[in-house]
Amino acid sequence: MYRGISALIVAALLLSSLWASPQPAQAAVAYDRISGADRYATSVAVSKLAFPKRAATVYLASGVNFADALSAGPAAVAAGGSMLLTTPKAIPAVVAAELKRLAPDRIVIVGGTGAVSDAVAKAARSYAPTVVRQSGVDRYETGRAVVRAAFTTAPTVYIATGADYPDALAAVPAAGAKRAPLLLVPGRSSKLDAATQTLLRDLGTANAVIVGGTGVVSSGIEKGIAALLGAGSTKRLSGSDRVGTSIAINAAAFGAAPRGDAYVATGYNYPDALAVGVLAGMRARPLYLSVPYCVPAPLRTQLTGATVSRVRLVGGVGAVRGLVGKLVGCLSITNPASGWVLVNKRTPLRPSTFTPTLADPRVPSAWGDPMQKDAAYALRTMFAAASAAGVGSMSLQSGYRSYATQASIFSRDVEQNGRAAAERLTARPGYSEHQTGFAADISANGCMECIGGTPQGRWLVANAWRYGFILRYESGQTGKTGYSPEPWHYRYVGTVLARDYHEGGFHSLEDYFGVPAAPGY
Ligand code: DAL
Ligand code: ZN
Repeated sequence: MYRGISALIVAALLLSSLWASPQPAQAAVAYDRISGADRYATSVAVSKLAFPKRAATVYLASGVNFADALSAGPAAVAAGGSMLLTTPKAIPAVVAAELKRLAPDRIVIVGGTGAVSDAVAKAARSYAPTVVRQSGVDRYETGRAVVRAAFTTAPTVYIATGADYPDALAAVPAAGAKRAPLLLVPGRSSKLDAATQTLLRDLGTANAVIVGGTGVVSSGIEKGIAALLGAGSTKRLSGSDRVGTSIAINAAAFGAAPRGDAYVATGYNYPDALAVGVLAGMRARPLYLSVPYCVPAPLRTQLTGATVSRVRLVGGVGAVRGLVGKLVGCLSITNPASGWVLVNKRTPLRPSTFTPTLADPRVPSAWGDPMQKDAAYALRTMFAAASAAGVGSMSLQSGYRSYATQASIFSRDVEQNGRAAAERLTARPGYSEHQTGFAADISANGCMECIGGTPQGRWLVANAWRYGFILRYESGQTGKTGYSPEPWHYRYVGTVLARDYHEGGFHSLEDYFGVPAAPGY
């Protein structure tokens, strides 16, 4: 008897593991988050961690552009100072409060009056006896002015393009930790410019670390530096993308570091990574750039490696999702067989006639539609839980649809409701989540359109995430999703993403993946 039961349990476990959805890999490394309500508040949060008491110098740079703050980061580390971001026209209140707390002797305004206005410089005088402006005619000359003021010599310099931010962001802590400056150059230029040559000579530079591939800092520039500094003086650090470049920079600078913190910011915007650069540089810890909603495999290898005991995410969930802190590996958002596939009016299914691996969800059903096999299992589990919770009957109105089925539903809707109404209600063939088998239109008491106001509908809103489903077309999100609210349309994304979506308070998959809104085709 006992054996019989345990054999049953084993069989049940085996079955459930066969059914189990392919979830992305997760690993356990402690993580926390450094963030504020906006980029300015995030720079303040970083400053408080870096300077719990006061700071003799504070750099104040624009938060609406990246170039000046990039140059200022390593300079601030070298000067033992903090760096705060400001709007061009006024010091945000949260930054003003931090300036007051830091009670600096000196504030360095970075950039010209277009970047940080005279009004800001004037206001800064309330917080420090000395306020200076370091600037030039463009970002490159501003950068050189900042470097000259902070460094009298620089045996090593980091060199990055000033035209874009992804490569240079991770170089700020690396340069800072080595007390080296970061020089911005017009990277696509075919030659090393004269002003940078003069600066390298004046600083007595012997080695240059070039950040990014030849597409961003040309081989002509590299040759120019090598000609100036001598053979073997230059090293180029780059990867196949921005995440990979940050890994290469950190491996070179911090590969032999003891166990400790790793900072992780989105690589798809600059303010948070800029804000944390000084703290990471001071503490000689790496700053990695990530995809906002998952950890690419090579980054995961770094973050689960010997040198990382804690991941410190920088920015709110809108910048880096909880899944990054949980070290969840990336699943494809383009492969229609992936539970994370994004399908909307800007993003058709590829191929448009894709057919998933289907299974019968074995739930009450209007037409007996199958669903993608993991979604089918999840739907059955969810219906069973709802029924156990006593919320009343639910049924599957529509699950998987072939291209041909979607085409006929769409043309029927056009016929019955007119084109404009049909477009808000039904996807064109090739653009429907139903074609992935991951979508379920759910009825309560036999009525799909009524589900929103029923106990079943409310239960689903509160609980569907536990089973890997999200409400895909919420009210108020038409501008993002392209569809009128559909309280019946649930989309299976797997429990890992659904939980994070729920906990992060997201309302569209477009926002979650950080992709453009898709109001139309
Ligand atoms: N009703 C949803 C948008 C679809 O047709 O896929
Ligand atoms: Zn639907």
